[in-house]
Amino acid sequence: MVDTDDKWIVERTGISQRFIANAEETTATLGADAAREALDIANISPDDLDLIIVATCTPEHHFPSTASIIQDALGARNAGAFDISAACTGFVYALSIASQAIQAATMNTVLVIGAETLSKIVNWDDRGTCVLFGDGAGAFVLQGSYDPGGVRTSVLRSDGSGRDLLKVPAGGSAIPASYDTIRDNLHCIQMNGREVFRFATRVMADACRDVVSAAGLTMEDIDVIVPHQANKRIIEAAARGLRLPIDKFIVNLDRYGNTSAASIPIALCEAVSEGRVRPNDNLVLVAFGGGLTWGASLVTWDVTPQPPLTGLRRFRRQALYRVARMRSAVRRGARAIEGTIWGSQAPDGMEPPRRDRT
Ligand code: UT7
Repeated sequence: MVDTDDKWIVERTGISQRFIANAEETTATLGADAAREALDIANISPDDLDLIIVATCTPEHHFPSTASIIQDALGARNAGAFDISAACTGFVYALSIASQAIQAATMNTVLVIGAETLSKIVNWDDRGTCVLFGDGAGAFVLQGSYDPGGVRTSVLRSDGSGRDLLKVPAGGSAIPASYDTIRDNLHCIQMNGREVFRFATRVMADACRDVVSAAGLTMEDIDVIVPHQANKRIIEAAARGLRLPIDKFIVNLDRYGNTSAASIPIALCEAVSEGRVRPNDNLVLVAFGGGLTWGASLVTWDVTPQPPLTGLRRFRRQALYRVARMRSAVRRGARAIEGTIWGSQAPDGMEPPRRDRT
């Protein structure tokens, strides 16, 4: 147990509770659940997806990507899939790439997911970080349309000179995993909270102003700001810096803690379901995090409400996911059998000698 108390946490961060994944829940399972819900609400079949992007700093593995695992779980047979690593700014980066792929007309339907299981990389002996982070996922489906609206523009920024302020030191090529790295907790989050706090209060307001002016708007045109949910005091400082009332900001970190790349999609989903975002509202999504990275997207909310999936259609969708699971199991089984019969491809790319030629 670390030396802390509820009063300190609530007063200094604004966090009262958070969701912690159990042993069976991973970034991919949380992300797939959010994705299924987004597809249901948008009434879009997994087969219609051209691309799946997952923003996460707690991926399922170094590789394969968490996005590929979610693609398989959804049975999204026509989709490409990859992860984005931009820490807490990941969702804004992913949204920007997705919307540009659609604008370039190379993709039409893109699923963007922010998903994290930060509890699995927290050092539970470090009171400076272990009280902050939570787990969760949120997802959105973006689709091309001739109507004006959607993601209008984004600003993406990075300053790698601040890379040591917030990081997981070991497990990559700089410090590969070893007995020592595990003993010293180097696979866990390390943060200079005070410095990240100073950086965040500076860049949040700047990024908002930059994206609003890049879209040719003014702050008066903005209806809702969805900030990265790291600390209530950072959000309040951004509101003061922008001279905006705090009630324009979506704040739900009291119930989720800091869920990194998942925080903006979770907050936006809640805001939409609570009716705080209305058609034609101008939204700014703004984030900062490890890298250092920061960025903002300007979104004009333009969603055609779809009738909810009910009865037979819901049952059909569930059946589709069961078929996807079976298809995946059959494919893996077939691959194993093929490997046993034919052997593996030789490393130099030549066909391995046939067993019957010995
Ligand atoms: O998603 C992006 C990544 N993360 C963030 O954006 C977080 C940014 N930083 C923050 O939110 C804040 O800096 C923290 C919440 C991490 C810390 O709050 P702070 O007001 O900046 O505290 P501090 O680091 O200046 O520390 C003040 C005191 C220290 O004690 P001394 O040295 O003054 O005696 C800390 O040791 O608070 C102490 N402290 C705690 N006390 C009780 C730090 N953590 C705790 C704790 N419980 N959990």
